[in-house]
Amino acid sequence: MFNLSIKNILKKPTTETDLLLANIIHKDKVFVLTHPEYQLDLFQYWYFIYCLFLLKQGYSVATIIHKKEFFGIEFFVNKHVLIPRPETELIVEEVLSEIENSAKKILLIDVGTGCGCIPISILKNNEINLSTIALDISNLALKVAKKNIAKHNVKIELIQSSLMTKILGRDYKTFDEIIITANLPYLTSDQVKHEPTIQKEPLIALVADEEGLALYRQLLAQISKIFYNKKLLILFEIDPTQSQKIINLAKKYLPNCKLKIIKDLAGLDRILKIST
Ligand SMILES: C[S@@+](CC[C@H](N)C(=O)[O-])C[C@H]1O[C@@H](n2cnc3c(N)ncnc32)[C@H](O)[C@@H]1O
Repeated sequence: MFNLSIKNILKKPTTETDLLLANIIHKDKVFVLTHPEYQLDLFQYWYFIYCLFLLKQGYSVATIIHKKEFFGIEFFVNKHVLIPRPETELIVEEVLSEIENSAKKILLIDVGTGCGCIPISILKNNEINLSTIALDISNLALKVAKKNIAKHNVKIELIQSSLMTKILGRDYKTFDEIIITANLPYLTSDQVKHEPTIQKEPLIALVADEEGLALYRQLLAQISKIFYNKKLLILFEIDPTQSQKIINLAKKYLPNCKLKIIKDLAGLDRILKIST
């Protein structure tokens, strides 16, 4: 008989291996830490070995177990979407504090929605009625977002579109305010090459031309055309090195706007808030 106890299998445990094992045996991490005698069955054992192989290949635990918590909510994820990061929660916090008790008719547009974590977290955490559109260029990402929308039972219109191209011709007269959130690709290919932790994330979610700012520049141009006479709240996640350049872009396309940079927990410039 093989000894397939946790203690025997996890010779050099790490946070990642604990999490993988906990997921395989349908328990939590504390159980793994406190039950070294627990025996896995053969299927669980071989599945664990397969997961270790994926981990070694550079996949994150979240991608392997298809789960990631964001803003206290569990999202389905896979290799076709960026794994949501804690910094992005700042966008959700900011929107929630801005719309609290608002009586306005608001349209929320999330551009580059990935797994849908931003709009779903906003809708799950506020009382007011928001019309919501989520856009992504990737059909594979949209499939993941669709799964999460169903899982969390929220109403979001999903559209495959490069930036806002597919919704440019719509009529927005009925809305008092437009909120646009975006965590678009903002890294340069050089930054990606030198960051080992993101090698297995989809390139389409990471890299943009013009020193990482091409997509934000194009999006600002679209916003200035369709929403020039609307009350706007815009939140963009950025790389800390881009703050001055993106401020300049925002001033160029929306000359009368108010601008604020919000720092992340590490004290780095992370979110550009634009309001009109
Ligand atoms: C950095 S990920 C962000 C995903 C998610 N919003 C989040 O915060 O975790 C960027 C997303 O933008 C999408 N994307 C890339 N280029 C795009 C474009 N031109 N138009 C719309 N979406 C795009 C990618 O497919 C990816 O899902």
